[in-house]
Amino acid sequence: MGPIILAIESSCDETSASVITNGKVLNNIIATQAIHRKYGGVVPELASRAHQQNIVATVHEAIESSGISKTDLNAVAFTRGPGLMGALLVGVSFAKGLALGLKIPLIEVNHMQAHVLSNFIEDPKPDFPFLCLTVSGGHTQIVLVRDYLDMEVIGQTQDDAVGEAFDKAAKIMGLPYPGGPLIDKYAQEGNPQAFKFPETVMPGFDFSFSGIKTAFLYFLRDEKAKNPTFVEDNLRDICASLQHHLVNMLLHRLAEASAKTGIKNIAIAGGVSANSGLRKNLKMMGEKRGWKIFIPAFEYCTDNAAMIAIAAHHKFLKGDFCSLDVVPLARMPI
Ligand code: KG4
Ligand code: ZN
Repeated sequence: MGPIILAIESSCDETSASVITNGKVLNNIIATQAIHRKYGGVVPELASRAHQQNIVATVHEAIESSGISKTDLNAVAFTRGPGLMGALLVGVSFAKGLALGLKIPLIEVNHMQAHVLSNFIEDPKPDFPFLCLTVSGGHTQIVLVRDYLDMEVIGQTQDDAVGEAFDKAAKIMGLPYPGGPLIDKYAQEGNPQAFKFPETVMPGFDFSFSGIKTAFLYFLRDEKAKNPTFVEDNLRDICASLQHHLVNMLLHRLAEASAKTGIKNIAIAGGVSANSGLRKNLKMMGEKRGWKIFIPAFEYCTDNAAMIAIAAHHKFLKGDFCSLDVVPLARMPI
């Protein structure tokens, strides 16, 4: 029988817990923090407070619904970083307390490695090596994955993350936070060719999304000067065109990385991998180029503890535990 591990995620605005036995995820309990919506973005101090309110019930539910007893646990895992310091601290401290009380080892997990490993929660699972486009509210990376815990970032954004570009564009249009899923929803009924936006091309496999945000702001300002109800009149076409543009920027780079490395196993991960345009266009591109595509189920795209559990399982097998002195890291390279 393989290890039974409890994993905790608290890096941003989801409090999540998951139990994994012998590499099989049993559940994935998520408490989403609705409080940030009215502020138009995640407020770090409120996130930390909400984690404190949610963590006991979330962990309790994960243990209860898995049918195990907490004394069956062989280890406790947690997200060490990257993330919001106050938010991370809640998960780290809770995990330490539990490990100490149960006299079991602690496992620290890198949140971005875990996003990549969300592709191993369900079948089909990628073969090594593969490339993973990890796209979230805080990151945009192309990761070369040699093994479960052997990864290298070969391209990344030099400024905003693509999720940030989605969210900021939505905010400019007056849509509530987080705007990414709303842009996706309206885009499905719009014309992706209606409007064109400029692309910033960076060296290597890097990205830049700050230019598009400014271009989008000026585009709307100019159009609204001619027609004050431009956004309301064209919401679906604007969303479809912007989404098409952002997805193309991602996929062009991914195609270059695949051509240069010769790797045709291609995965995506992170919150923006829930985007329907990205999923659809990636599949189309994959068919054309002979790629094998791996896309996590929706619930494993955004922040969740199941992906932390997968990473923890592989760290457990290697005996990679951490001490009770461990501290969270707001920045933590893969
Ligand atoms: O991975 P995640 O849950 O949290 C971070 O670690 O950042 O990603 C959240 C990001 C947000 O920017 C959100 O707008 C974006 O993922 N997102 C989407 C979609 N669903 C979530 N962006 C575009 N289309 C979606 N369907
Ligand atoms: Zn994340």
